[in-house]
Amino acid sequence: PVLVVDFGAQYAQLIARRVREAGVYSEIVPHTVSAADIAEKNPVALILSGGPSSVYEEGAPSLDGDIFDLGVPTLGICYGFQVMARALGGEVANTGLREYGATDAALTGDGGVLLGGQPDTQNVWMSHGDQVAKAPEGFEVLASTADTPVAAFGSAEKCFYGVQWHPEVKHSDHGQEVIENFLHKAAGLAADWNSGNVIEEQVARIREQVGSARVISALSGGVDSAVSTALVHKAIGDQLTAVFVDHGLLRKGEREQVEQDYVASTGVRLITVDAADTFLGHLKGVSDPEQKRKIIGREFIRAFEKVQLDLVAEAKAEGEPIKFLVQGTLYPDVVESGGGTGTANIKSHHNVGGLPEDLDFELIEPLRTLFKDEVRQIGRDLGLPEAIVGRQPFPGPGLGIRIVGEVTADRLEILREADAIAREELTKAGLDNEIWQCPVVLLADVRSVGVQGDGRTYGHPIVLRPVSSEDAMTADWTRLPYDVLSKISNRITNSVRDVNRVVLDVTSKPPGTIEWE
Ligand code: XMP
Repeated sequence: PVLVVDFGAQYAQLIARRVREAGVYSEIVPHTVSAADIAEKNPVALILSGGPSSVYEEGAPSLDGDIFDLGVPTLGICYGFQVMARALGGEVANTGLREYGATDAALTGDGGVLLGGQPDTQNVWMSHGDQVAKAPEGFEVLASTADTPVAAFGSAEKCFYGVQWHPEVKHSDHGQEVIENFLHKAAGLAADWNSGNVIEEQVARIREQVGSARVISALSGGVDSAVSTALVHKAIGDQLTAVFVDHGLLRKGEREQVEQDYVASTGVRLITVDAADTFLGHLKGVSDPEQKRKIIGREFIRAFEKVQLDLVAEAKAEGEPIKFLVQGTLYPDVVESGGGTGTANIKSHHNVGGLPEDLDFELIEPLRTLFKDEVRQIGRDLGLPEAIVGRQPFPGPGLGIRIVGEVTADRLEILREADAIAREELTKAGLDNEIWQCPVVLLADVRSVGVQGDGRTYGHPIVLRPVSSEDAMTADWTRLPYDVLSKISNRITNSVRDVNRVVLDVTSKPPGTIEWE
């Protein structure tokens, strides 16, 4: 693989994705990795990511200097560029100047293999305080900006390159080209990694892992569990049983989508568990968001556990025990929960961890190395309906965390209708690809005065929270066209009982999270 060394900012995942977009498989490693660990992974190239710090700061993330003696082609980006400069004998200075945002970078000379053929000046996205004052010996300066004399450098002989800007962000004009030049031209790597290979490889691996044992899988209605289940089904057919827990917190039409469309397109054997009453019973009187999440997570596991025990007993009687459980864990979950970069736990996400302890299943996690867009592509290749693979993210606790206040059947009904209207209008307006997701939230504990017909109303507000994002870590509110907003608002207030106001959330993340709870 290409190894992306993570210096602790949010850029490493983006870099890893861009590398894969260039057709080369990549993985992320923490900056604490030793040269020996790296050598063991046999990387074809290294990319050092950006980071939040100054190389001079106390406790600044550092890198084992022996890594530069491994003879592996290396690209340093932003902080990684400075780490590289310093380790190889260049100079990094704290000039007190900061460059932040869009900047013009000018090629010096022909730009080398990294920037060659690109315009003399290009718009790039910068975010740094320190700067490289002097390139290491034997390195050629490839670009500079008004404030930064060494904005890119390279040594063709060593196949070491670096840029001060962030080529992985879309705001850098020729960013993807810089990454591709490094991979294909400098490091000589072919673009031969794609979703087709992944399916073949995973199918073979799953068959080998499972043998003739049986497997179960929980479908949530979301993309990840749908694709991981379909992939396992492709590998082992009816050795797999899928389970869908209807916790009563689903959106309108979701159960039918799984029971009808998904089953029709995959042929998966499906069991649905009706657990709405149980969930609502346990949620009675609870309005604290974290507590709701815990209850929903716990009850989900209980419901799933019960059906598992039944299935296990049945399978045992038939002679082929159930040994495996499918999980739709994605690469970002792996990096974020095990990556050890100390990302703060802002909300407890119930779909990571939390397996029943007394059922000792082995896990099958066929999406463990993949990013979301790759998972969607695999779903398409496997023939899943677009309504499922193109689905926007939806939280595991469902509508339960989109009702601010206690969750009741009545409130769920109101929210379900409002949400269906918003989704329908956004789809009709062709906006599905422009928004990352649009939570629709019922402020059940808030009432406001309204007027309808000749009468005074005292109803609840519905919040629309359309956001644009690349990874849900940060987000901006989406500027939806007024006429679409107006249509949604009219339809909701006219047809959803007890709702007399629709409001728009215009907060970015941070400071707001995407969901309200
Ligand atoms: P926040 O609200 O933290 O959401 O900005 C980031 C992304 O995560 C989703 N989300 C959840 N997903 N279980 C999930 O499976 C949860 O408890 C949960 N909480 C938030 C949210 O929809 C957004 O995509």
